[in-house]
Amino acid sequence: MTSDSIAQIRDEAAASLQPERQQQWEQFLTPMPVARQAVELFTPCERPVRILDLGSGSGILGAVAAEHAASGSSVVAVEQDDRLAAMSETSLCQVCGDVTVINDSVFDVPLEPRFDRVILNPPYKKTSPTVIPTSAGDVKVTNLYTAFLVIAIQSLAEGGECVAIIPRSWMNGDYFKDFRKWMLHECSLDALAVYGSRQEHFKDMSILQEIMLLKVSKRPQTKKVMVIADASPMMPLAQQPADMVALKALTMGSDRILRIRQQDARLSGFKTLSDEGLWVSTGKLVWFRNRDVLSSVAEPDGHPLYWSDNQCGLVMRHPVDCDREQWVTGEADGRHVVLPAGGYCLVNRFSAKEQNRRIYASYLSSDVDFVADNKLNYVHQGTSRKTIPLDDMVARGLTLWLSSTIIDEWYRQVSGSTQINATDLRQMPCPSKPQLAALAGMLSLNDMPNQHLIDEAMRGLFSWAKAS
Ligand SMILES: C[S@@+](CC[C@H](N)C(=O)[O-])C[C@H]1O[C@@H](n2cnc3c(N)ncnc32)[C@H](O)[C@@H]1O
Repeated sequence: MTSDSIAQIRDEAAASLQPERQQQWEQFLTPMPVARQAVELFTPCERPVRILDLGSGSGILGAVAAEHAASGSSVVAVEQDDRLAAMSETSLCQVCGDVTVINDSVFDVPLEPRFDRVILNPPYKKTSPTVIPTSAGDVKVTNLYTAFLVIAIQSLAEGGECVAIIPRSWMNGDYFKDFRKWMLHECSLDALAVYGSRQEHFKDMSILQEIMLLKVSKRPQTKKVMVIADASPMMPLAQQPADMVALKALTMGSDRILRIRQQDARLSGFKTLSDEGLWVSTGKLVWFRNRDVLSSVAEPDGHPLYWSDNQCGLVMRHPVDCDREQWVTGEADGRHVVLPAGGYCLVNRFSAKEQNRRIYASYLSSDVDFVADNKLNYVHQGTSRKTIPLDDMVARGLTLWLSSTIIDEWYRQVSGSTQINATDLRQMPCPSKPQLAALAGMLSLNDMPNQHLIDEAMRGLFSWAKAS
């Protein structure tokens, strides 16, 4: 009965949100099934607990947490919207006798590290990089949800647990690396549950990002992390398939990129792309800052310009018939955008949801110096400061490797986003250069081998058993 009225208050709050404020403060309210799953992640506790709900909205998360807590528990909720703060009070008072609602910004409320249970579904917005001082040093955050999480984790008492409903984006990429390192140093990563479909949950809130539940706790790292890689909001988490995985098997490299599954055993013998002496850089030409050098004709001292439009399956073609200029003038030489002639593997930095593969790689062999648009990454054998082209057969082999099903699956386990980060690609398992050259010898890119042929070639070369 109480759950019904908490859900009812949430639904009333959702229906009465003011559109402008909803956008500004990201008032996307958690539906009851997701709130229950979030609370299900807390370890049952027979003694009263101190609960904190940050950005409490209608108070649904704190209220469900309090409903499942021992009597004598207390809740503090922080919400900056006065109408929602009042609704939080109403929800929370239904289930708990000791409620404090603070109608203020989370960033203006001093919170002591005394909470046993912290729960939150924070706003997700990007922010300009901000540094939050903590006892373990400064943490750079670029997003409101990580800023909220830093505050949440700092509010935990020893042994306290925090459950957050957040996007999956913190798990990979360069932007979140500071936060990942800090968080994995500060607390134990206990559980990850990634919702498989974006549509099912938050149905009435038009949330399009891939959402997950994260549980961390203030104690030494647990031996095994519970991972539900394809969670459904429709049934209790306890009834869904979960893997228990050591943290080490989920993290990669010094940037602590986190995967949602253990790596496919067939990839375990490979080093990373960067350990194989390869480097991923981002195309240097930002077209709108260099409009004056774009040219639709080849000039004697100019250079070919490659866009994603020039990706024709597994190879780059130039020029192609499209509405973008295919050359730059000689003026581009002074702008640090020109790359040396030679062999490369170019990877589109963006993929569309409906595309079969996330990674779209194409081989380039250029006899002349050229320019790559900023929406392409390129793999070479230099460093972040110096571009050195690849051996031709390595470039061809790498294009095939990056186009394989096993690598596509690998990438999906690392990133829920359609953007392809250079940071993540550098951590990708990669054969040695001689192996890549051998792969190139097995298939001709010009014959446009299909997915089956690419996967079969790999299976043959590495003696992999047929996928089950
Ligand atoms: C994504 S909603 C979630 C609300 C609620 N926790 C739930 O799960 O339904 C985020 C909430 O944080 C509030 N909020 C945004 N920025 C805040 C801030 N700086 N301090 C406190 N609350 C904030 C919004 O008004 C909104 O109610």
